[in-house]
Amino acid sequence: MKTVILIGAKGKMGKAAASGLKNHRVVTASRSGEGCDYKVDITDKKSISDLFKQVGEFDAVVNTVGFCEYAEFADMTDEQWNTTILSKLIGQINLVKTGLDFIKDKGSFTLISGILNVKPIPFAIADATTSGAIDTFVKCVAHELPRGIRINVVNPTVLEEAWDVYGEMMPGFQPVPGVLVGKAFERSVDGFITGQVLFVDA
Ligand SMILES: NC(=O)c1ccc[n+]([C@@H]2O[C@H](COP(=O)([O-])OP(=O)(O)OC[C@H]3O[C@@H](n4cnc5c(N)ncnc54)[C@H](OP(=O)(O)O)[C@@H]3O)[C@@H](O)[C@H]2O)c1
Repeated sequence: MKTVILIGAKGKMGKAAASGLKNHRVVTASRSGEGCDYKVDITDKKSISDLFKQVGEFDAVVNTVGFCEYAEFADMTDEQWNTTILSKLIGQINLVKTGLDFIKDKGSFTLISGILNVKPIPFAIADATTSGAIDTFVKCVAHELPRGIRINVVNPTVLEEAWDVYGEMMPGFQPVPGVLVGKAFERSVDGFITGQVLFVDA
């Protein structure tokens, strides 16, 4: 059994990830902390290091947080770009950078991206761009991680559980059940793979 910090645990993707982590001691966190063990804001480096200090020893970090703004490219403001980049890209990078000071030898990081960087749709340019950047970050940084530490990213299509929110903007997409996406998180945490983009698509 590993100690796994699951960030964004009560969100739709967090619940999907949790379904694949049932064999582990899961420590949960989110921005509000509601229904979770800890509060963390992944856009704030001090908040991230405070979380890791409070948890103490852990084997894995699973992040399912990456707030994205949605608008047509022509209408996207600097603020919308910055908000998305700070959460979905820099926030996740900082989880890894800071987490390296705390995670156990042979530990693992699992990040979140999303299928829209390979299957673009209108209004999702910021989500798609930061998802592509996170996929690239993971493939490349895997070569630089010390102490046998691994890193992967789960790149899922839309969840069945989120179809009521995103379905209208995603004609022609087939949603997948959260438990299937949970299997990708499980492969990342329990396997020996590293530097992989784990696509889950229908
Ligand atoms: N839903 C899908 O079908 C789907 C498919 C592919 C990819 N994704 C990606 O998965 C990610 C999560 O989506 P979701 O559908 O799970 O969203 P969601 O249901 O809205 O959940 C978001 C979660 O993130 C937490 N959170 C937000 N900002 C935070 C911050 N700065 N620091 C810490 N926690 C924060 C929220 O915590 P509080 O509630 O406590 O604020 C909540 O637990 C997104 O990047 C999305 O693009 C989603």
